[in-house]
Amino acid sequence: MGFVITIDGPAASGKSSVSRELAKRLGIPWVSTGAFYRGLAYAALESGIDLSDKVALTELAMSDTWKIVMTPERTQAWFRDQDVTDKIAQEAVGNVASQISHYPEVRRSLLDHQRQCALKANGLVAEGRDCGTVVFPQAEVKIYLTASSEHRAQRRAQELGMDEKELVIQQKQRDEQDSTRKTAPLQIPQDALVVDTTQMTLMDVVEKIHQFAQQKI
Ligand code: DC
Repeated sequence: MGFVITIDGPAASGKSSVSRELAKRLGIPWVSTGAFYRGLAYAALESGIDLSDKVALTELAMSDTWKIVMTPERTQAWFRDQDVTDKIAQEAVGNVASQISHYPEVRRSLLDHQRQCALKANGLVAEGRDCGTVVFPQAEVKIYLTASSEHRAQRRAQELGMDEKELVIQQKQRDEQDSTRKTAPLQIPQDALVVDTTQMTLMDVVEKIHQFAQQKI
């Protein structure tokens, strides 16, 4: 396994955009671990699975009806041989992903697949909520990205064409859920560089993290 850079943070803090650009600079792949939760949430909704049925969710997590594929641009999700990457990006799917991510059994069933992403190349940028704490606790470089809730909602509203005020409310709920759950809550990993991106451009953030990573690797 090559070196791993983890980027954790709340909803819409810019994790995917930063990971994509940083991975491009370093010539290594990147993965959104959120895509695993979103992909499973989407597959569960499409399969009519009761979202509180942990056993059915865990079985679905291990089935081959869906899969995650890393590409330089996006972490893709496939369900029944269809590319559903755009569909899992919807905020409604993110909310269901947050809901089912509470179950320790579900988290455990996705963990191996997430870790395997690091075995496929000589280095990986992995972003999510628990990448620096649980998925890759030995990562050489750990980053925690944050931004004001208004800024994050504004960013996501532009991406998804949604109402900003509604997004502030939904994201606050999701962040609260993700930070207070018992298993692998969103938290700042020890030794992480905390970057508040509210006043920064994407390229400034990437530059800062790149410099930090170069000192560490
Ligand atoms: O990063 P995202 O918005 O795509 O993540 C969607 C949800 O998936 C998030 O609200 C909680 C869950 N998630 C998680 O529990 N652990 C991760 N490492 C990544 C995402």
